Amino acid sequence: MGMTPFYFPRRDFLRGLAVAGATLPAWTTHAAEPASTTRRKDSARPTVALIGCGGMGSYDLSDAAKFADVVAVCDVDTGRLAAAGAKYPAATRHTDFRQVVQLKNVDTIINGTPDHWHTLINLAAIRAGKDVYSEKPLTLTIDEGIRLVREVQRHGRVLQTGSQQRSDRRFRLAIRLVQSGRIGQLRHILTSLPSGRHGGPFASKPMPAELNWDVWQGQTPRHDYVAERAHSNFRYWWDYGAGTLTDWGAHHNDVALWAQGPGIAGPVSVTAQTLRDPVPGGFSFPSLYRVDYTYANGVTQTCQTVDSENPSGGTTGSTPPGQMVNGVLFQGSDGWIFVSRGKLEASRAEILQDPDAQADFGPAHENHVGNFFACVASRETPAASASVGHRAVSVCHLGAIALRLGRRLQWDPAAERFKGDGAREANRQLAREMRAPFNYDYIA
Ligand SMILES: NC(=O)c1ccc[n+]([C@@H]2O[C@H](COP(=O)([O-])OP(=O)(O)OC[C@H]3O[C@@H](n4cnc5c(N)ncnc54)[C@H](O)[C@@H]3O)[C@@H](O)[C@H]2O)c1
Repeated sequence: MGMTPFYFPRRDFLRGLAVAGATLPAWTTHAAEPASTTRRKDSARPTVALIGCGGMGSYDLSDAAKFADVVAVCDVDTGRLAAAGAKYPAATRHTDFRQVVQLKNVDTIINGTPDHWHTLINLAAIRAGKDVYSEKPLTLTIDEGIRLVREVQRHGRVLQTGSQQRSDRRFRLAIRLVQSGRIGQLRHILTSLPSGRHGGPFASKPMPAELNWDVWQGQTPRHDYVAERAHSNFRYWWDYGAGTLTDWGAHHNDVALWAQGPGIAGPVSVTAQTLRDPVPGGFSFPSLYRVDYTYANGVTQTCQTVDSENPSGGTTGSTPPGQMVNGVLFQGSDGWIFVSRGKLEASRAEILQDPDAQADFGPAHENHVGNFFACVASRETPAASASVGHRAVSVCHLGAIALRLGRRLQWDPAAERFKGDGAREANRQLAREMRAPFNYDYIA
């Protein structure tokens, strides 16, 4: 979720590239021209294919079309495929992503499939020599992320995770302020997420003719078709993710990690509790929960849902009133900063008003999709690399594993393994069984 558009004009993006001293590739000079749906013979613009033509994939593609020519679309739902094809009539239409990644006229892939398909598609694309913009959460499991990061490095590809807060001016300023000590020593981070969907039980229904339900389910356990499992509701089921913990958590827990600097790759302990039990036969990930983390630098973090029916009921005592709705609160020895997609606030006005801090936003990339295409051209590391996306969603997966096992766990971020009490059982949760044929052999 979280599709709030945050678009900076293209001229700012180009100015940013110039500031960063990058050599502008030929296709950036076509910036002011309208997006083209066919590959022009006189254009050096890259080409792009969309796999997963749902809500977010379509949104990403319309952004990508400002920078690249759309040459292929792919979905296992032929209704959605037809809709995407109608918008980009020059694009070829496909139902098997393995064909798409082999297309010679495709330079880049946007992966807008549900979480449980991200890794196999990303791996197939990278091995076929494509650069990838993959939606977050980057993976379904920590094991997938370890494999993906390795393969991205091995093949020298550019992978941008769709964590667009990494390119958001407000979030980037908040990070700089926290890192430059503006709130003193960072002590606690509160990541507040929307509650998930609660409901059920749901009856199975006849499969829609246009949807290949078997392939849609992919590696996950096979179920009769249930409308509430498919298309956008998937995120509220354990089978396909971990509720809002991996959905919104992939955004806000990323920010929590980012603020702590490159020396912190993950927490060292995690404990979690379910605050509302799912309905048997209904959405299977708890809609309300709380996860607590500790980090090696002494920082603690609480990640918890705010109950949309009772917004003040889910927060901690130290929370500034009325602030903690879907955002990140940094609490330091000398004040606090709260950042969300609509707000940047602090305990004292001067924390945000320091002109030095506001002057420098770091590398200039204010359109996340644009940053991807700039890196495709320059071969630089994008704002939300595979490693960033993997480590961010690992924080969420650790919370989900602690929730599932109902115990405190110790994590070794360097080894990416649990240690201490309960480690054996927890390490078994680092990967999931993949239903054949939708395992790594599927893309071999
Ligand atoms: N960055 C953001 O703020 C943001 C916002 C919303 C969604 N997302 C992410 O985008 C992804 C998609 O979410 P959505 O809400 O658009 O879901 P969606 O259900 O609307 O779209 C997913 C599409 O992928 C298709 N699909 C499934 N398996 C496929 C396969 N093997 N090959 C080709 N197509 C396949 C489905 O048929 C569907 O059309 C999720 O991972 C979600 O977390 C990110």
